[in-house]
Amino acid sequence: MHVFGLTGGIASGKSTVSRMLRELGARVLDADVLAREVVEPGTPGLRRIDERFPGVVGPDGRLDRVKLGAHIFADPGERAALNAIVHPEVRALFLQKLQALEAEGVTHAVYDVPLLIETGLHQAMEGVAVVWVPRDVQKARLMARDGLSADQAEARLGAQMPLDDKRAHATWVIDNSGAPEATRPQVEAVWRAMLAHG
Ligand SMILES: Nc1ncnc2c1ncn2[C@@H]1O[C@H](COP(=O)(O)OP(=O)(O)OP(=O)(O)O)[C@@H](O)[C@H]1O
Ligand SMILES: [Mg+2]
Repeated sequence: MHVFGLTGGIASGKSTVSRMLRELGARVLDADVLAREVVEPGTPGLRRIDERFPGVVGPDGRLDRVKLGAHIFADPGERAALNAIVHPEVRALFLQKLQALEAEGVTHAVYDVPLLIETGLHQAMEGVAVVWVPRDVQKARLMARDGLSADQAEARLGAQMPLDDKRAHATWVIDNSGAPEATRPQVEAVWRAMLAHG
């Protein structure tokens, strides 16, 4: 199995590119989806969170993300404790999903991970595609999509690794600053290059 990373920054167009890849027939695993799956009701992940952070599982058996967020917000130790529970679960589920794809005969897969580079996971990938836009475009799209003020958007961007730093780790840079029609051929070229591996 050949596995490639897909990443970018907030509102840079990861979901847009991921959709284009899927349209081309790529199988894309989404780290955010896996992270939700491992804390669904009845999972060992949620049971361990419930033990470590009493009160964050609601009466409906679901994780109360607002409560959990308030708990770990501004407390790196608590956040690390949460990650120590969630990350191994996500990793195990990721490997399980890869095996299922392999059993289907899939030879090339893409893993969409917002924090791919920050976590060092990019080093385990056969190649990395970074969805890049200039900072002013990123800020404008973030404001438009989430209804944020310029200051709110700045705060979110300031808390992230800049896309200009991420692109230093890219095997392929997908420039999403133009219209989607300008992005699509780049995505096609990247998918072809991925398929050429192995
Ligand atoms: N090429 C483009 N031209 C114009 N708008 C775009 C383009 N690509 C994406 N957008 C818009 O920009 C916003 C962010 O795109 P998208 O959701 O794909 O980014 P993302 O990286 O997945 O964001 P997040 O980090 O929040 O998941 C969306 O509103 C999307 O419709
Ligand atoms: Mg997205």
